[in-house]
Amino acid sequence: MKTQVAIIGGGPAGLLLSEILHRHGVDSVVLEKHSREYVLSRIRAGVLEQTTVDVLRSNGVGDRMEREGHVHDGMKIVWAGRESFFIDVKKHVNKRFMAYGQTNIQEDLFVAADIRGAKVLTEAEDVQPVDVTTDHPYVTFRHNGESVRLSCDYIVGCDGFHGVSRKSIPSSVLRIFEKEYPFGWLGILSETPPLPDIVYANHPRGFALASMRSPMLSRYYIQAPLDTKLEDWSDDRFWRELKARFPKELADAIATGPSIEKSIAPLRSFVAEPMRYGQLFLAGDAAHIVPPTGAKGLNLAVSDVFYLSRALAALYNQGSEALLEQYSDMALRRVWSSVRTSWYLTNLLHRFPGASDFDQRAQEFELDYLKSSHHAQAALAEQYAGLSFEQ
Ligand code: APR
Ligand code: PHB
Repeated sequence: MKTQVAIIGGGPAGLLLSEILHRHGVDSVVLEKHSREYVLSRIRAGVLEQTTVDVLRSNGVGDRMEREGHVHDGMKIVWAGRESFFIDVKKHVNKRFMAYGQTNIQEDLFVAADIRGAKVLTEAEDVQPVDVTTDHPYVTFRHNGESVRLSCDYIVGCDGFHGVSRKSIPSSVLRIFEKEYPFGWLGILSETPPLPDIVYANHPRGFALASMRSPMLSRYYIQAPLDTKLEDWSDDRFWRELKARFPKELADAIATGPSIEKSIAPLRSFVAEPMRYGQLFLAGDAAHIVPPTGAKGLNLAVSDVFYLSRALAALYNQGSEALLEQYSDMALRRVWSSVRTSWYLTNLLHRFPGASDFDQRAQEFELDYLKSSHHAQAALAEQYAGLSFEQ
């Protein structure tokens, strides 16, 4: 088999890259380890930055998002016993958000891929990038019981945090920056009307978040110890704990019902640099992970794909390699901006086991400052909205 760009991983990063490349006349093959059903069953975050909305829209995969997504202008923060305050992103930086689940985006990308007859091979086993520092890289894998060799010009690793692509870069080349947090998020999805705003709560019992997917689908999270077990969390216990972390008027407004999904996620920050090694590029979770606070993960995957697709289109269509050479540095500037924001929000909003009285007071005063200062709110709004793309 032969293609111009071999894409490893068919998550949002891999499928979107293939879609945009196709629109620029560049051929690609996507190799996905799992089945389509498996990929579509994953529930992830769902707050899209303006840049993400623009990229999806301008590449023909935004129609359902326009119809079903919910536009909002910012988020509320509430600290136990105090009044909530609104970070008005629209007012400060004239950018808005869209609540639209990653699972829906993944579905929309599969539909678009089917319509154009894209080469997306699911259940591809033992995928391995080879000779990535030569002019003739290729990928080997097994599909339907046969061994296949896919020759290409470039390989893009969109295979998530546990994929093979990053691992094929020697440790002498790759620099890793990593931070693990001493708690996880327990999340549920329920077919109940959400609160009108996304609300982040810092409470002595721990962090809580009220979010949304659609007018009849809510997403809630609570901070939980890393060793907590899902089977110990009946829906009833979850709702009680969630409501205990919000002030009474918000708790009373939360509509409860049976959960349709419940899961636990650990929190970590991780960045691998550089995002290029020879003819191999990394994009999305393959290169970086953010804690979910701020919902930056999918947005970063989309911004990597935007920069990389633009660079590959410039190479194939104008013969210019300049953007491809800048890819890693340019993508990492945006990555670090969101890595920093999600780290800041994680520190601001969670209760850290073993925090000293000093740490606790400093956190409270940080929240007070944010509540009372127009400048602090503008700064957070700018970061929460995400950077605009570089030219
Ligand atoms: N070979 C082929 N495919 C692989 C391999 C492999 N060895 N390893 C992993 N994959 C596939 C996974 O099955 C998955 O479908 O790569 C895909 C990676 O998808 P995601 O994990 O969704 O990562 P990405 O596309 O970068 O999207 C980032 O997902 O994790 C969230 O918060 C994150 O929202 C962000 C988004
Ligand atoms: C979500 O809706 O899943 C969500 C919203 C905001 C966040 C994180 C996750 O900060």
